[in-house]
Amino acid sequence: MLKLTYRLLLICLSLFSSVSYAQVTSIQNIQARKVQSLNGKWNYIIDPYENGYYDYRHEPFDKSKSGTGGFFDDRVQKDKSELIEYDFDRSPQMNVPGDWNSQLEKLELYEGNIWFRRKFDARPEKGKKYFIYFAAVNYEAHVYVNGKKVGIHKGGFTPFQFDVTSTLKVGENSIVVKVDNTRKADEIPTVNTDWWNYGGITRDVFLAEFPEHFISDYKLQLVKGNNNLLSFTLKLNDATPNQEITLSIPELKLEKKYKTDAEGKIADDFTWNNLSLWSPETPKLYAVNIKTDKENIDDKIGFRTIQVDGDSILLNGKSVFLRGISIHDENPLVAGRLRGEGDMRMMLQWAKDMNCNYVRLAHYPHNEEMIRLADEMGLLVWAEVPVYWTISWTNPATYANAKQQLTDLIVRDKNRASVIVWSVGNETPLSDARLSFMTNLVETARTLDDTRLVAAALEVHRDGNAMLLNDPLGEKIDLVSFNEYAGWYWGGNPSEITKYTFNIKYNKPVVVTEFGGDALGGFHADENTRWSEEYQEALYRNQITLLSKIGALRGMTPWILTDFRSPRRQHPIYQNFWNRKGLISETGKKKKAYYILKDFYGQMQTKYK
Ligand code: GCU
Repeated sequence: MLKLTYRLLLICLSLFSSVSYAQVTSIQNIQARKVQSLNGKWNYIIDPYENGYYDYRHEPFDKSKSGTGGFFDDRVQKDKSELIEYDFDRSPQMNVPGDWNSQLEKLELYEGNIWFRRKFDARPEKGKKYFIYFAAVNYEAHVYVNGKKVGIHKGGFTPFQFDVTSTLKVGENSIVVKVDNTRKADEIPTVNTDWWNYGGITRDVFLAEFPEHFISDYKLQLVKGNNNLLSFTLKLNDATPNQEITLSIPELKLEKKYKTDAEGKIADDFTWNNLSLWSPETPKLYAVNIKTDKENIDDKIGFRTIQVDGDSILLNGKSVFLRGISIHDENPLVAGRLRGEGDMRMMLQWAKDMNCNYVRLAHYPHNEEMIRLADEMGLLVWAEVPVYWTISWTNPATYANAKQQLTDLIVRDKNRASVIVWSVGNETPLSDARLSFMTNLVETARTLDDTRLVAAALEVHRDGNAMLLNDPLGEKIDLVSFNEYAGWYWGGNPSEITKYTFNIKYNKPVVVTEFGGDALGGFHADENTRWSEEYQEALYRNQITLLSKIGALRGMTPWILTDFRSPRRQHPIYQNFWNRKGLISETGKKKKAYYILKDFYGQMQTKYK
C-alpha cells in the first residue's frame, strides 16, 4: 500500500514541478515545414559567474523591474561615455550546431555558462505563427529574442521550441541563448556519467513559420501485431474543428480525406493489404504526404511490427536475433558530438560492416537525423533517456524532468520504423524509490506508444558463480536486458568467465545490453595482459561462449562500437580521458575483437535466416 501511495505522490507532485515556461512538446517533422536555418557562426561570451544574468547582488536581471541589464539585451555602446561591459558584435564566433568543448581547447573541460548570439533577418506576416526550434541544447537553455525572454528548457538531448510570434520583427532580429552545462544532482542525468559533458547548442536551430492553425503532431504506424492495420492519428496546435486533412501515399495509390474533430484531432485505423514491410534486410520507406489547404508535409515512413512472444522477439511476426552494438553520440576521429550526416553514416556503416542489424543509441536521445539514417540503412534501434546510475529518485522535479525527456523522445521518433525499444534508463541501483520512479516511466512509455517494446539496462547481481537476474523492474519491462562485465570489472581473466551460470527469474527474451573490456588500439601482448587487443579479443570470445548458455538469448549490444571520451578514465598510458572499450579505436582502427563479433554475427545471420 505504501508503495502505491508513494508512486501516486510522485506522479502528482511531478505535475507541479517548477517549469517557468509551458513545455510545448516538439512539433513533428519540423524539418519538413517552412523553416529558415539559424545554423552557422554565432558570437559567444564565456560567463563562468553568470555575470550576464545576475546583478552584483545576485538578483536575475530578467526578473528586475526593467527586465533589462543582462547580456540578453544585446546592446552596443552608442555614446562614448556609456558603460557596457560586453559586446556581442565584437566577441569571437563559434559554430552552431556544435559542442563548445571540441571547438576551443580552453573549453575542453569547461562546465558552466556561455552566451550565444546571432542576428537574422525575418519577414513575419500577419496571421502566421513563428517558432524558434532547437534540436538540442546541453543542458539548460534560457532563450531571448530581441531582448525578451521566450523560454527556458532543461534536458541536453531532446528538441524544444518557443513561440516568438509576438517578439519577431520585420528586418533584423537578435536571438540570445544562455547555455549552462553544469551537472547537478537533481538533474537527468545526474552528476556522475561515463561520457563527456559536451556543452552548447549541439544540434540544429530553425526559425519555423506556420499558419494560424497547423498540424503540430501526427503518427502513422501499424497497429501492434497486425501487418495490415494502419493507425493514423493527428492533432492541430489548437482545437480547430472541420479542418480538412488529406493523407496520401502515392506509391500505394492511397488517399484518405479527414476532418478534424472538436478538439482539432483525427484518429483512424484502416486496413491496407500488401504493404512492403520494413526490416533491416528490406528497409522499405514510403513517401507519405499530409496536407491541408495551408500546409504540405512530406515524410518517409516504414511500416513494421515488433512484439515479444514468450522468449522470442517477433519482427513482422518472425523471430529475430538482435545483432547489435552500443554507440555514443560522438565522433572518435574528430572529437565532439556527431556533426551531421557524414559522421552518422560512418558510425552506422561501421555497425553494418560488422553484420549488425541493430544498434543501442546510448545513453540519451541521439540526433533525429541518426534515427532517420537507421530507417534508411536498415538498422533496428534501442533508444534511451539518460536516467543513468544514481538519480535523485525521491525528487518530484527530477521525475517530471525524466518524464518530459521520455515524452519528447517518443513524440519525436514515433514514426521511425527503426526504433523498436524505448529504454527508460541504465544501471539504476535497486530501491523502492527507484522502482516507483522507473515503473512510472515504463507506464508513461506504454501510454504514449503501445506499438514498441519498453525496456531498461538492468544490473546483474552475483551469488558465487551464478549471475542473478531478479531485478523487480524486470517484471514491468518486455525484455530481460542487462549489463554484465565478467572478465573486466570482475570474474578473473577472460578464460575464467565461462564458469558463470545465469539464474533468470523472467521468461522473456534476453538481450544483453552491455559486456566488454578496454583495449588500447595497437597494444599487443598475451591474452591475460589487460589493455591489450588480445585480452579484449579473448574476452569477446569467452563472453560469446558464456552468453550462448542462455537459451532465451535473443540479442546483444556489446559495449561499444568506438572508443569515446570520458572524464572518468584517467590512466595516463591506456586511457587519457578515453574509455577504450571500443571495437574501433579513435583513429578508426578495427581491433582484433571487432572480428570476433563480426564472425559471430555472421553465424547468427545464417541461423536466423
Ligand atoms: C557501464 C555503463 C556505461 C559505461 C560502461 C563502462 O555499464 O552503462 O555507460 O561506459 O559500463 O564501464 O565502460
